[in-house]
Amino acid sequence: MPNVFDPIKIGLMEVKNRIVAGPMMSNTDIDGYVTQNTLDLYDERAAGGAGLVHVEACAVRKDGRPFDQIGLWHDRFLPGLRHLAEVIHRGGAKASIQNANTPAASSFSHCVAR
Ligand SMILES: Cc1cc2nc3c(=O)[nH]c(=O)nc-3n(C[C@H](O)[C@H](O)[C@H](O)COP(=O)(O)O)c2cc1C
Repeated sequence: MPNVFDPIKIGLMEVKNRIVAGPMMSNTDIDGYVTQNTLDLYDERAAGGAGLVHVEACAVRKDGRPFDQIGLWHDRFLPGLRHLAEVIHRGGAKASIQNANTPAASSFSHCVAR
């Protein structure tokens, strides 16, 4: 029976243990861009020893986000996201990301706009 500290393979990815740092929205982005605060936070998370750091809910649509969230809807966010992955990898963890689409938020703002 595997132990929580045993490595595990997820697809082709080898993860050093079975501990996941769950996604927690940090409100550290600015206009969807990863900031130094975002990097510092995930630096600390990765240093905590989890095998996988699951990056918080990130928005796949600009108009589908209830809060300010890290953006995934445009390639201009890629350099920041690359840095984020590098910071997590440097801490010895693998990175995954939560793709969030909140259609209710877009319908809500649509209603309010009317
Ligand atoms: C500040 C904060 C932000 C959170 N952000 C997210 C998020 O972005 N995505 C998500 O699926 N869950 C989010 N959650 C839920 C957590 O990932 C987690 O499921 C919840 O805190 C329960 O954790 P537990 O099962 O370890 O008690 C957030 C929770 C907190 C406290």
